[in-house]
Amino acid sequence: MSALFYPMTPQLPTKWLLSSEFMEKLMSQIISMAKRRGFVFQGSEIYGGLANSYDYGPLGVELLNNIKNMWWKHFVNDREDIYGLDSSIIMSSKVWQASGHTASFTDVLVDCKKCQARTRADHLIENHFAKKGKERKIEGFSLEEIESIINKEKIPCPNCQDFKWTRPRKFNLLFETHIGIVPEKKSLAYLRGEIAQGMFVNFKNVLDSVSPDLPFGLAQSGVAFRNEITLGNFIFRTLQFNLSEFEYFFNPQKQKWQDLFNYWKEEIWVWTTKVLGIKEKKLRWRPHTNEERSHYSERTEDLEYDFPFGSFKELYGLAYRTDFDLKNHMEKSGVDLRYTDKETGEKFIPHVVEPTFGIDRSFLVALLDSYSEEQVKKEKRIVLKLKPVLAPYKVAVFPLLANKPELVKKARQVYETLQKEFPTAWDDRGNIGKRYYSQDEIGTPICITCDFESLKNNDLTIRERDSMKQIRVKISELKPAIKNILSGENLSKLGKVIT
Ligand code: GAP
Repeated sequence: MSALFYPMTPQLPTKWLLSSEFMEKLMSQIISMAKRRGFVFQGSEIYGGLANSYDYGPLGVELLNNIKNMWWKHFVNDREDIYGLDSSIIMSSKVWQASGHTASFTDVLVDCKKCQARTRADHLIENHFAKKGKERKIEGFSLEEIESIINKEKIPCPNCQDFKWTRPRKFNLLFETHIGIVPEKKSLAYLRGEIAQGMFVNFKNVLDSVSPDLPFGLAQSGVAFRNEITLGNFIFRTLQFNLSEFEYFFNPQKQKWQDLFNYWKEEIWVWTTKVLGIKEKKLRWRPHTNEERSHYSERTEDLEYDFPFGSFKELYGLAYRTDFDLKNHMEKSGVDLRYTDKETGEKFIPHVVEPTFGIDRSFLVALLDSYSEEQVKKEKRIVLKLKPVLAPYKVAVFPLLANKPELVKKARQVYETLQKEFPTAWDDRGNIGKRYYSQDEIGTPICITCDFESLKNNDLTIRERDSMKQIRVKISELKPAIKNILSGENLSKLGKVIT
């Protein structure tokens, strides 16, 4: 083996292990990898954990920020018609009364009288039917109808398997908080249940300050809070979650909502498949039934992903909210929220189409969709085949041997130069093969090794994650070569491939 050939270069084609057994284990593999490698930790873990809350670790926060920043660039910075906002998380209770959330933002729950497990009745019923290979949605059903299905099907508690449910009852998802320090004078407020209301309550401020022409969008990224009752599924459904959404305001006399709805449906698809790189075959659109649609919507469709737990579930949403929100805020606040047509002077309340993107679900889908296990010779290789733009580190730099100071010195110089331009990892632990595999598992697209030839020739080995192919590149040409590989250039166009 030449000095330029490092272990783990495959001699045989790799074999995919995407069996149904693999799919069943996928979620637990992802959860364990996410903790082991510093993507996601259980919230408040040292105190036994807080249910449905998670913290992002050193690698997780990079991936999360990459998704958020890409979203902002794609939908706000790269467009002329969408403006950004950053509104407060704590909002007046009057906002949520006017928006209808205090009355209608509810789910139905049941408690197990034996083990005290609390669960959402719709999830209990849906999961029960999913196990039988059937799809059943019960949103919008009355409490009596829900109770009758649970009893007819004799659905057991998923926790203790007993059948001793309380009667179904409604609970509100809004997170209450209190403002003030004197107990008798505390006033009720809510942590925002959706970030959309920040756009509606600031509508007039935006008209007065930047005077946009219709149609235009108001976008926001931030955290929302919901008092969710759920039985796990990792970061899919949490108490606090990252949400990015925009309200696209338009004049209903000049544009048909159906046209805008279809336009944004297409754009959501482009974002998901082209920008995030999620596999098309794992996605589907599903229109909401009349019963399940939110109180503010006249049409809603969910973009669903085929999650390894319970099949297709909501990833993103698209809703035609009509003029429901602006009209209600105008009535309740007494402030004129109408838009004045700049040509005719006509005043009217714009209508809204709202694309909404759960960022934690995007994170989960990015991991699920890119996770793969390959057999290379006799070893299992775990690879996160993330699009380079999503990867926490773009490059990793190693000295071939950690106990040779001249190699370490040269490799450090390369690392320090690259670090200023790309998120770069340094690793000098274990052998070179282990370091490659370690970077593959966290999705680093490029590994660079400094060896004895580098000292003589001022060149390095670049190894590409997915193909595991390697080329030699002069240090002076390293940065453009990295940029080319990250933008999808074939390695063979940049140098002689060492196989
Ligand atoms: N403004 C519209 C709105 O909030 P939604 O369907 O209730 O719509 C938007 O939520 C997105 O937020 C969903 O498509 C989903 O991706 C994500 N989401 C909702 N509840 C969540 C939760 N408890 N944990 C994590 N993500 C959640």
